[in-house]
Amino acid sequence: MSTLTIGLFGFGVVGEGIFQVLSTKPGLQAVIKRVVIKHPHKTRNAPQHLFSTDADDILNDPGINLVIELIDDAEAAYHIVKKAFSKGKSVISANKKMIAEHLTELIRLASECNVSFLYEAAACGSIPVIRNLEEYFDNDLITGVTGIINGSTNYILTKMAKKNLPYQEALKEAQANGFVESDPSLDVYGLDARNKLKILTLHAFGMVISEDKIITKGIQSITEGDLVFAKEKNLVIKLIATSKVNALGALEEVSVLPAFLPRFHPLRLTDNEFNGVLIGGQLSDEQFFYGKGAGRYPTSSAVLSDISAIRYGYKYEYKKGIKQSDKVLPSKSKVFVSLSRDLPELDLSVFGAVVETYRNSHYSYTVLETTLQEIKPLFDLHGVSVIRYLD
Ligand SMILES: NC(=O)c1ccc[n+]([C@@H]2O[C@H](COP(=O)([O-])OP(=O)(O)OC[C@H]3O[C@@H](n4cnc5c(N)ncnc54)[C@H](OP(=O)(O)O)[C@@H]3O)[C@@H](O)[C@H]2O)c1
Repeated sequence: MSTLTIGLFGFGVVGEGIFQVLSTKPGLQAVIKRVVIKHPHKTRNAPQHLFSTDADDILNDPGINLVIELIDDAEAAYHIVKKAFSKGKSVISANKKMIAEHLTELIRLASECNVSFLYEAAACGSIPVIRNLEEYFDNDLITGVTGIINGSTNYILTKMAKKNLPYQEALKEAQANGFVESDPSLDVYGLDARNKLKILTLHAFGMVISEDKIITKGIQSITEGDLVFAKEKNLVIKLIATSKVNALGALEEVSVLPAFLPRFHPLRLTDNEFNGVLIGGQLSDEQFFYGKGAGRYPTSSAVLSDISAIRYGYKYEYKKGIKQSDKVLPSKSKVFVSLSRDLPELDLSVFGAVVETYRNSHYSYTVLETTLQEIKPLFDLHGVSVIRYLD
């Protein structure tokens, strides 16, 4: 494709960002012909004639050869993307929820329609992690991907730990900066990170794992007491996504969990809306990728990189395969469980071997040697915080 004629869906944080970037870079030979949005009466920082609320103004226009899908409605996005493929249009999307939910189907459809389907912005914002896993690490057997892959929860945890902001205030600040999904529960319950981890697991290992097999707990239960405990022990709490295989290539952990990071852990430097990803390789050992994981321009930078790639006909090749793999081995872990004051005493020894326990009038915690699978029933209990230890 020499000249790209773009139909843009969405003119929010990211959509307007990519519009601005393309408007100032005519050398890219990528022109936005039409923008489809939801609410026609909003004021827009772009010529009014570009806007429409009818998806078919893009999808049925044979002059548009690239669809950039940047809306916050995963269901509508799914139908847009499928129709775009069927019309022979390549697609760039940042919609990790939609991509994770329909991963294998969308990859199959894009291949059948012989179009490109790229989604670098769907995982870790500005960090080129998908393309690296696809291309650079093709020959280096990857052993694990571990990272802070959700900018908004990282922003909230940083403000709670370093500025002593209460959770609600830190969330509001993250929202004001455009780091939070329209539905914040996607972020704080760890679901956004889970969607991204599913995508990264495919590109790292060639395996597709169902969402319900990814052990997931967000940051919603972390208390002030947990933060004080962490500070006293010189630990830092981060929401960590992990996907690991053993020497035989079997999945040995796929999880999103709050974790205590020890003093010299490389991910400890990743604060605010930044993301950090450690890629473990059999030959390369460990490599650290760091960059902004959310926000208008960092996310636009990943979309822009996909636009350039599509000009040269780039497609993900999925050379490691696309295999449904829902079996994850039990992963041993040291886990901290704290209970809020209004909870009755729980016998936590049924969830693993008790290593340490402490209780005062308003707070109690127990440290267990256990497996993530055994501890899972505690995740949904109100007033129970679960934080695993990382080495
Ligand atoms: N924000 C980030 O930092 C970030 C980072 C990585 C990935 N993403 C992903 O990028 C996508 C967009 O995020 P955002 O933060 O830019 O969202 P946003 O600011 O909430 O904007 C959403 C846009 O989608 C439009 N829209 C919603 N439903 C639509 C429909 N059915 N048809 C057409 N347009 C529709 C809205 O139209 P109106 O303007 O008319 O309301 C709005 O322009 C999401 O999938 C998100 O997960 C965001």
